[in-house]
Amino acid sequence: MSFLQKVRVTDVRNLASVTLTPSPSINILYGANGSGKTSFLEAVHILGTSRSFRSAKVKPVIRQEQDSCTVFGRVKGKDSIFSLGVNRSQDTACKIHINGEVARLSSDLATILPLQVINPDTFRLLEGSPKDRRQFLDWGVFHVEHRFLQAWKRAHKSMKQRNALLRHGKISDSLIDVWDSELSQSGEEIDSYRRAYFEALKPVFEETLEKLSGISDVQISYTRGWDKESSLRDVLKRSLRRDYEAGYTQWGPHRADIRLRYKGLPAVDNLSRGQQKAVVCALKLAQGKLFSESKPFGCVYLVDDLPSELDRDHRFRLCKMFEDMNAQVFITCVDKSTLENVWSMESDVKMFHVEHGLLVEDSRAEQASAVPP
Ligand SMILES: Nc1ncnc2c1ncn2[C@@H]1O[C@H](COP(=O)(O)OP(=O)(O)O)[C@@H](O)[C@H]1O
Ligand SMILES: [Mg+2]
Repeated sequence: MSFLQKVRVTDVRNLASVTLTPSPSINILYGANGSGKTSFLEAVHILGTSRSFRSAKVKPVIRQEQDSCTVFGRVKGKDSIFSLGVNRSQDTACKIHINGEVARLSSDLATILPLQVINPDTFRLLEGSPKDRRQFLDWGVFHVEHRFLQAWKRAHKSMKQRNALLRHGKISDSLIDVWDSELSQSGEEIDSYRRAYFEALKPVFEETLEKLSGISDVQISYTRGWDKESSLRDVLKRSLRRDYEAGYTQWGPHRADIRLRYKGLPAVDNLSRGQQKAVVCALKLAQGKLFSESKPFGCVYLVDDLPSELDRDHRFRLCKMFEDMNAQVFITCVDKSTLENVWSMESDVKMFHVEHGLLVEDSRAEQASAVPP
């Protein structure tokens, strides 16, 4: 597994200057509303992706009256240690450093510090658009299949060119044929990677959900974005006229989706909020498990407000799963008593009190006395 040994956050929201030495396994951040818990998770997310999970814009993330925010981290991999640095400001491009060298791609960060986030946005896997589910699926495919990114770029480019031709109308068939050929090849390739990944994910998800919640009849299926029986090449040919009318390509890998149904209805309409949380957590846990099977290290989990929506049993089982996964986890909650007595004695659990943008670790003595005899 890989994990963060050290994190230093400067000027991310209300965190002016915070240095943390986390546990390689369980880290609990507790504190009142507005103390800075989510901001800390956001800072770690910036370190692993260069982006916030709360805001597409940079300005709201930077502490008021400051010009930029910075996050440093030391990541212990299987055989090596990486130092990562990300600096974001409103006026200049994002600056990424890996082991002291300038890096250009945020995907380089993701390779060193792969993250899984569970927060209120995770419900989008059920109630959001197909794009949300495709992003989830593609995160997994990207990490296990190195040829995926190249195929995705080819499909993206050919789709853009094809759509531009469709919008201009009156274009020769031979010209569109060039992009149809490119798009159908890369689209079929993407589908084969997504399908293989999905087939591996499905049983792990089902088993995880059953363990977490006792629910065994959620049906999960993958649709590739065009008719099951035909090749993409044929579909593109057949739909050319209608694509012209619409001004864009209607079928292809950009329409892929995952469907989740419960007792014959969309899961989002038929499960309680707590059950929905169990389903989305099971998806994220399954993805983390698959990831760690394919790599010499695991991913780091950021879990915002773990206790919300979950009853005591669910909280307990979810915590046990994180413990068993052997992953580094950062969990936030308001009231620490909700997450205090759920860990086994052998687990390395650190608790941090978050108050007005400061993080203070509970002393070990304090933690020990919290465990009932
Ligand atoms: N750019 C910013 N500069 C300074 N403070 C901010 C900024 N953005 C948000 N805040 C404040 O940071 C505090 C911490 O927010 P947050 O991390 O969401 O709290 P919580 O502990 O409830 O998760 C809030 O009080 C919020 O008003
Ligand atoms: Mg919060």
